[in-house]
Amino acid sequence: MKVFVLGAGKVGRALAQGLREKKVDVTLRPARKGLPKARIDADVLVLAVRDRELGPLAEKLAASGLVSRKTVVLHNAGALPADALAPLRPVTAGVAQMHPMISFASRTFFPTLTRGQVHAKGDPKAEKAARSLAKLLGMTPRTFAKLDTIGYHAAAGLVANGAAALAAIGEELLVVAGVPREEAPKMLGPLLRSVAENVEKLGFPDALTGPVRRGDAGAIERQIGLLRERLPEALPLFIASAWAQLPLARTLADAPASNFDAMETVLTRAGSAVAPTTKRRPAHGRAQSRRSAR
Ligand SMILES: NC(=O)c1ccc[n+]([C@@H]2O[C@H](COP(=O)([O-])OP(=O)(O)OC[C@H]3O[C@@H](n4cnc5c(N)ncnc54)[C@H](OP(=O)(O)O)[C@@H]3O)[C@@H](O)[C@H]2O)c1
Repeated sequence: MKVFVLGAGKVGRALAQGLREKKVDVTLRPARKGLPKARIDADVLVLAVRDRELGPLAEKLAASGLVSRKTVVLHNAGALPADALAPLRPVTAGVAQMHPMISFASRTFFPTLTRGQVHAKGDPKAEKAARSLAKLLGMTPRTFAKLDTIGYHAAAGLVANGAAALAAIGEELLVVAGVPREEAPKMLGPLLRSVAENVEKLGFPDALTGPVRRGDAGAIERQIGLLRERLPEALPLFIASAWAQLPLARTLADAPASNFDAMETVLTRAGSAVAPTTKRRPAHGRAQSRRSAR
């Protein structure tokens, strides 16, 4: 199989490297170099460009005559369906979405793809090619018939990018607690990895650990006290996170229900004490509305 990857950003480079390791014949071309001069000789053309570039690029390629009718064209955007490449349909063997649900943060360090999930959906030949590429990369292809790509992408972003931002705040808290900053990623990376393993193997609510699960309202109250004093900007997120943990903890029932009632009281008190003095009211607002919705 011959693959041409147009777009040498984080995803394009990682996919090209992964496929080359599997002995696939891959050509990688930076999109900012423009379209190639010669016809693209490939079974699969992957457009690994930014989402907003996909439509204009598809139109340009369709008009260029550079893509063969035998070639299928894939894009990697989570938020967009195959239709993002619609202009290419009349001149190719079909188009599809091939979205790896993996976080690619660097152009030189590539994350492990094995056991990652790929959403593959589109025209029959193109979807089949996307599924084959996913399998070659050791990933699991999936196709959900009625997937709302906006919601799907929001979920992926909340977990991947939210976790990175949460870890960055965790780093600030570790520094406040006396850990040298350069040590923090080394501590938090393996911690996140253990969460990832728990989520994958145990699912929810079992993946939850910690004082909220144990119904330890006193521990949460002390932590809130420290945050209020030493890192008040992190307090709304801390409280929102505890609110999000509470329904999981109640379902697990590792402590009497009265402990979780006490936890709610602590969080309600802390929330109303904090909201007016911080910039992060939306997080607090969400936490409160969750509570009032129960
Ligand atoms: N990153 C992720 O975690 C992830 C995960 C799943 C899916 N995706 C999807 O994969 C596709 C590619 O995403 P990506 O993360 O690889 O994006 P990216 O690293 O930003 O690269 C995408 C394109 O942006 C261009 N680019 C890079 N830096 C630029 C700059 N400073 N100014 C202008 N253009 C610049 C690159 O050009 P050159 O080709 O010329 O280098 C490349 O073609 C998107 O559809 C995205 O939604 C991303």
